[in-house]
Amino acid sequence: MKPVRARWNGAILVCGKCSKKVKGGFGRGGRKPLAKALRKHCRIAKGHEGHVGIVETKCLDICPKGAVVALNSAQTGLWHIVQPGADLDEVAHTLNLDCPK
Ligand code: FES
Repeated sequence: MKPVRARWNGAILVCGKCSKKVKGGFGRGGRKPLAKALRKHCRIAKGHEGHVGIVETKCLDICPKGAVVALNSAQTGLWHIVQPGADLDEVAHTLNLDCPK
């Protein structure tokens, strides 16, 4: 195996299937998926270059109707159901995501 250095201090996992089901729902105009909207809102680079990873996963087997499941990998015992249109500052705070103002 060959190691690859990442700059991540942690990771936020967002259900990609939920995101597809709600057809975006976040960001300006409500058209961006949660992972992308959070990345933009908190100015986090995509991939291994960012200080935190925001990763879309497969179905997490919660499957809320009209919402998206997200969690901080440092708090795997606490998952969050995020409604479309939720305030991204509040979402970042809830997920303990370091988001510059
Ligand atoms: S579709 Fe997102 S948890 Fe199942």
